[in-house]
Amino acid sequence: MKKEADLSIDFCGVRFENPFCLSSSPVGNHAEMCARAYDAGWGGIVFKTLGLEKSFKVIMPSPRLSIFNNFDKRFVGLQNAEQITDRPILDNIKDIKWLKKNYPKKVLISSIMGYVDEDWSDLAKMSQDAGADLLELNFSCPQMAHKTAGHRTGQDFHAVASFTEVVKKACTIPVIAKMTPNITDMIPVALAAKEGGADAISAINTIRAITDIDINNFTPLPNIRGHSSPTGFSGPSVKPIAMRFVSELYNSKPLNLPISAIGGIETWIDALHFLLLGATNLQVSTGIMRYGYRIVEDMIEGLQDYMMERNIQSLDEIIGKAARKIVDPSEFNTRFQVVSVVDETKCIGCGQCYISCMDGANQAMEFNKETRKVFVNEERCVGCLLCKHVCPVWDCISYKEVDTNEMKHAAIF
Ligand SMILES: Cc1cc2nc3c(=O)[nH]c(=O)nc-3n(C[C@H](O)[C@H](O)[C@H](O)COP(=O)(O)O)c2cc1C
Repeated sequence: MKKEADLSIDFCGVRFENPFCLSSSPVGNHAEMCARAYDAGWGGIVFKTLGLEKSFKVIMPSPRLSIFNNFDKRFVGLQNAEQITDRPILDNIKDIKWLKKNYPKKVLISSIMGYVDEDWSDLAKMSQDAGADLLELNFSCPQMAHKTAGHRTGQDFHAVASFTEVVKKACTIPVIAKMTPNITDMIPVALAAKEGGADAISAINTIRAITDIDINNFTPLPNIRGHSSPTGFSGPSVKPIAMRFVSELYNSKPLNLPISAIGGIETWIDALHFLLLGATNLQVSTGIMRYGYRIVEDMIEGLQDYMMERNIQSLDEIIGKAARKIVDPSEFNTRFQVVSVVDETKCIGCGQCYISCMDGANQAMEFNKETRKVFVNEERCVGCLLCKHVCPVWDCISYKEVDTNEMKHAAIF
């Protein structure tokens, strides 16, 4: 029998049997849930964010969730109006202790959020004493916008640097700083966390968004007794944005810290995408909320098969491989252009490519309404590939490369 590919990782000096972790959310609310997640195969858990009751009262509205549907495709995104845990701190600490005692080889990351320095250091010490392997500093909850807590803190470089420093002084375990995506450029905040002593960066927390509106009573959802608010958006819809942030973090030379990627991971291919963009560790919430802990089985099997088929022994061989290909658009090689090629044997004559090219691109498709055959006018085609993307037959339209030294494009009027 062929040996299985090794999925284990070293993240900040901590060994994970695989990179798959629960991200901080209801999926890791208490010990019984976390135990089931470990049993299902998850390598680690980021426990639901802890806070101190004395500093802020946690507000848990109801209903708390709304989903983003795209026509008949349901649940392409999830909006939540939830804050950090509302369980008493001592119950959570007891759970962390129990989990570390019963699952010593699995990784437990304690997510914490303070209000003042003392909170951050107390939460860090309590977590470490309970056996947590790492800490994640929640600088990014979009539902908490206190001056010194929640996503506003994550936009304040000085607060991030200073709270990270406080935590680093209070404990010896590695510290991950969790970033908010509700910012134009994440790098300065990540650098501030590094300055404060952070050992790693995790991204992204949820994106402030509005998913839906009840058109009968004019209330955005979730409708909380007649009111709503732009709150945290997650799931498959946020993955492209999360991938952008992760690649920027990885490609930042001054940052040079390990990355834990979060945002829309549901399958092994999603996981692979983030690894290729530079993440070492991966976290999931919405995918589990929708499908359950068992999705990790597919992630493990899929990633292992992918690696074995390519004779890849360890994840180190693939981490960051795609991130290195990301450049500024000004650096693109534009000498070579592409033109579309239609495979007549596969074309079903629907005319979708023609419509889209006519109204949304460069009028390079010719369509015979009698024979329902399409023809690419290469002089007009600018190689945008809109035709390929709208074609209902996946492999009907491809493209060929053209050296522009030999071919001149038609003027666009
Ligand atoms: C219902 C819900 C509650 C969440 N609560 C927390 C939290 O307490 N602390 C935190 O750091 N992130 C929290 N998050 C954010 C997730 O950890 C994660 O960063 C985000 O959902 C993106 O990942 P996903 O697309 O896999 O869900 C929460 C997300 C959801 C959906």
